[in-house]
Amino acid sequence: MTEATEPSDLTPEQARQELARLAVLLGDANLAYHQNDAPEISDADYDRLKQRNAAIEAAFPDLVRDDSPSLMVGAPAADGFSKITHSVRMMSLANAFDDDELFDFRDRINRYLGQADGHPIAFTAEPKIDGLSLSLRYEQGQLVSAATRGDGQVGENVTANARTIADIPHSIENAPDILEVRGEVYMSHRDFADLNARHSSRGGKVFANPRNAAAGSLRQLDASITADRPLCFFAYSWGELSHPLADTQMGAIERLAAMGFKTNPLTRLCDSVEDLLDHYRTIETQRSTLGYDIDGVVYKVNDLSLQSRLGFRATTPRWAIAHKFPAELAWTTLAGIDIQVGRTGALSPVARLTPVTVGGVVVSNATLHNEDYILGRDGNGNPIRDGKDIRVGDWVQVYRAGDVIPKIADVDLSKRPDAAQPFVFPDQCPECGSPAIREEGDAVRRCTGGMICPAQAVERLKHFVSRKAFDIDGLGAKQIEMFFGDDVLPIREPADIFTLETRDAANLARLKNRDGWGDKSAKNLFQAIEDKKQIPFGKCLFALGIRHVGEVAANLIALHYGDWDSFVMAMQDAQDADSAAYQDLIAIDGFGQVMAQSLLAAFAPGAERDGIDRLTAHLTIAPAQRPKTDGSPVAGKTIVFTGTLERMSRSEAKAKAESLGAKVAGSVSARTDLLVAGPGAGSKAKKAADLGIETIDEEGWLRLIEGL
Ligand code: IVH
Repeated sequence: MTEATEPSDLTPEQARQELARLAVLLGDANLAYHQNDAPEISDADYDRLKQRNAAIEAAFPDLVRDDSPSLMVGAPAADGFSKITHSVRMMSLANAFDDDELFDFRDRINRYLGQADGHPIAFTAEPKIDGLSLSLRYEQGQLVSAATRGDGQVGENVTANARTIADIPHSIENAPDILEVRGEVYMSHRDFADLNARHSSRGGKVFANPRNAAAGSLRQLDASITADRPLCFFAYSWGELSHPLADTQMGAIERLAAMGFKTNPLTRLCDSVEDLLDHYRTIETQRSTLGYDIDGVVYKVNDLSLQSRLGFRATTPRWAIAHKFPAELAWTTLAGIDIQVGRTGALSPVARLTPVTVGGVVVSNATLHNEDYILGRDGNGNPIRDGKDIRVGDWVQVYRAGDVIPKIADVDLSKRPDAAQPFVFPDQCPECGSPAIREEGDAVRRCTGGMICPAQAVERLKHFVSRKAFDIDGLGAKQIEMFFGDDVLPIREPADIFTLETRDAANLARLKNRDGWGDKSAKNLFQAIEDKKQIPFGKCLFALGIRHVGEVAANLIALHYGDWDSFVMAMQDAQDADSAAYQDLIAIDGFGQVMAQSLLAAFAPGAERDGIDRLTAHLTIAPAQRPKTDGSPVAGKTIVFTGTLERMSRSEAKAKAESLGAKVAGSVSARTDLLVAGPGAGSKAKKAADLGIETIDEEGWLRLIEGL
């Protein structure tokens, strides 16, 4: 028996022995890492052992030991926590980024309440703490449970952990019989730096920012680890109450403070939007000296009876909003510019930076968009950054907003090294050496190597197996990289996926002996591939990753041509621009010349077309289902979805609308018939309102299509 033996191939006795061995190994590793802060094995090895332990336990549930490592400590494992259903849902907040949005926020409230525009409303304003929210439940004054937000409805039970936080009282006096206090768990800058210094001196895990450190520390299965981590808590809200705390938000916060909770000292009562903005600026100037991370200011209607009239949208209250601080900026040097080649051959310049912390996150890469951007001009040749170009060695300003890829915003010419040379954008693909051409009107330069370019081929394969395409279980981007680079059992084009199982036996044996692959996982993979041999037309076309042919276009084509063979024949005929087939193609509503050219190029005789034929020989492509639109209230209508949808994914909503005969568009225009706006809807909702387009929320949408 070796560690590579599949758990299901072990005898019970072997499994028992191996579980005992793993309990010792992992027990020692935990002790070294968590209690002595001196890890003895790498995180990767630790994870591997933990996974093996879990897999054997799954195969032999009767053999799970009382001291099983999976029941004790380790990295935060959501599955390891019991769950708590929140008696009152834990909500999120809508965001505002500029002053105007706050006046809109006040006006929306007035309109909702039937009050005149500009009617003054009192709000509280307080820092938005960058931590994680926690709900504490007290019964008869005693702390009985603590839960993370989770999905808002069900959170993780972290009661034992919460008890170790000094700011959280275990018992309180003069409290309602049932009192749920909500607030934010966070870590101060000083404690964060100390924790990381302690960990890094012993080779342990270093956290990227205080928020991650707080989350990682609270969500520990072993509360003694949480106890060791310096966490703090600010109370700012509440859930279930057997008796109201006060008549106003401010009164309630004061009441919580009187009960012994820490509340934020920068909480203020403001009588107007101008006051809110004033306080926002005060907080913004103090931000860097507060000693903990905040990412904005939260405004809440002060009068609690108004709060209850205003109520909630799907995930956010109508009576509160988070005014976020603008994106974070930092200066660093540009160490190099790498060129990455994408699925459609686009050459994207990536800035390699001397690592710098931008708003609590260490950034070492940023996008440079395209060659014009590096040269200091936009797509129309107009100067950006006053026309300053960007050179390796330059002192550059990095910009990070939320979770999006950081960008280079500016360059400081006064610090440019004398030897810095203008960047010469390659006119050859760095991956395959083919000419890289920039077509008229295209902002990017593209490799012309097509499928001979390994970078394009591997990116296309990743797209092919992605969730909205073939979505093959067990064959994700990581496995594609592995198979693509494999000499003996390679996947170089989509058709190779479907011949994997039937290639010669010796190669298959190799697959099975490979790291992380056993008999069972190989079998599962083959089954998953087999299951996807039946595929709907639209999905199959989208999966090919043809430039400009996204999900929507692929489905339009599928609906138009019905079945794959008719489509392929039409593509042959349409190669001639004078043909009726070509006219028919470009006449498809929502389908333009550019898409048509790209599609025709893929289906013209040649290497790419041969690859498609090799693939489709393995598949049964299901004809497109013409939508049943009888009785559909949205047949023929153009619908736009925006904001967050709670009860379905965006893809699901779109698919449903299309199946009911609607056209789903990405942007609002005069041709839009209906906007379905979830929380966080921004400019699209505003535009729809301006254009007088009917707007409904997710609940309204579900009611509209009920029973269809
Ligand atoms: S009030 C029903 N106040 O921000 C409203 N939230 O983006 C409940 N947060 O999930 C939230 N500081 O984790 C509120 N002063 C503050 C806050 C705050 C941070 C977090 C909270 C919430 C998230 C929404």
